[in-house]
Amino acid sequence: MERSLFDRLGGKSAITSVVDDFVARAAGDERINSKFGRTDVPRLKSMLIDQVCEASGGPCQYTGRDMKTTHTRMGVTTGEFNALVEDLVATLNKFGVGKKEQDQLLGVLAPMKDEIVEVDSRKTGTPLPPSYQPAPALAKSGS
Ligand code: HEM
Repeated sequence: MERSLFDRLGGKSAITSVVDDFVARAAGDERINSKFGRTDVPRLKSMLIDQVCEASGGPCQYTGRDMKTTHTRMGVTTGEFNALVEDLVATLNKFGVGKKEQDQLLGVLAPMKDEIVEVDSRKTGTPLPPSYQPAPALAKSGS
């Protein structure tokens, strides 16, 4: 039997490194970074780790907002969605994730596109609308 995608990606520690690199890359990408201007980054990282872990068959449970709620009124364009996927692929290449595993991971994430993209345009760098409501910051652990 084939090992789970989670195991083939290298488990939770490898996924954590991938998410760290990916979020830094997205934060430096002017095609998409204005959308993250009011985001609690520790929460975003933690949620992405759990989401990828769970979606790849790992022992995690995603507890964040659903994709529709999270991205509604963010005004994400098709061009911005593609830019984010490009950043993710650059990160996966950097970590030497194989083509098969990349395709499998993107295959899990790609169907979420319809819940995320609101504007059918190739434009990138569009602003975050002032009406967008970010998720609350993560509670500090230990308090
Ligand atoms: C398949 C693609 C994507 C996936 C799987 C994804 C996943 C997620 C997840 C899990 C969260 C955290 C939700 C929470 O905190 O409850 C999130 C938040 C966010 N996403 Fe995405 N996302 C995708 C595409 C995009 C794109 C294309 C953009 C914009 C260019 C974007 C911008 C954001 C922003 C700004 C936040 C933070 C929202 C806040 O401040 O609360 N996402 N996303």
